[in-house]
Amino acid sequence: MDIFLDTANLEQIKKGARLGVVRGVTTNPTLVAKEGIGDYKSVVQEIASIIPGPISAEVVVEGVEAMLEQARDIATWAPNVVVKIPSTTDGLEVITALDKENIKVNMTLCFSLNQALLGALAGAAFVSPFVGRLDDIGHDGMELVSDMVKVYRQYQLETKVLAASIRHPLHCVLAARAGADIATVPFKVLMQMMQHPLTDVGQTRFLDDWHKVQNAQK
Ligand code: E4P
Repeated sequence: MDIFLDTANLEQIKKGARLGVVRGVTTNPTLVAKEGIGDYKSVVQEIASIIPGPISAEVVVEGVEAMLEQARDIATWAPNVVVKIPSTTDGLEVITALDKENIKVNMTLCFSLNQALLGALAGAAFVSPFVGRLDDIGHDGMELVSDMVKVYRQYQLETKVLAASIRHPLHCVLAARAGADIATVPFKVLMQMMQHPLTDVGQTRFLDDWHKVQNAQK
């Protein structure tokens, strides 16, 4: 399973790049607004220059024609930009049109297997099931991830399952077990994925023992 960062924070993305495990980035209007970013295009272009993998940038208009126009523009921002289109009926029409123009789409805000199936049939390169938001309303978000993996395999659909709305490290474990192609994670979760108390205890003890011997030899 690949790991994407779910953020528009440039410092977090640079750190992720140095760690060498971040294969892409997803942004959304909320994440961009959180950073107080004025020029969305420049920020997306900078992110796209830091991480060579897919960088998702979302359309922020409604209606087929308006979304198509904005999607076409976003697709020119950088060669690795992927356009995020919502899982709506209009969105489906837009995805179909963009697929014919070879513009890569990440169908976002996916909450059901039917939406996921239609998004794949329309030609979305990625479909993003929002795991945490489904959990929030008492559904099993990870069940949607598993169902998508199974159904896409069953019908040999090439669309990638991009587990999104990831809230904690256990979501990453479960997404990997379910066979998700990618999990897009907040920076905090990426940091938590590498934490283990036994690693900290073990490392402290190794260094203490090493220094004890060195001091004894003085
Ligand atoms: C994915 O592309 C979205 O940006 C994101 O995962 C949404 O997560 P949230 O439910 O934590 O806002």
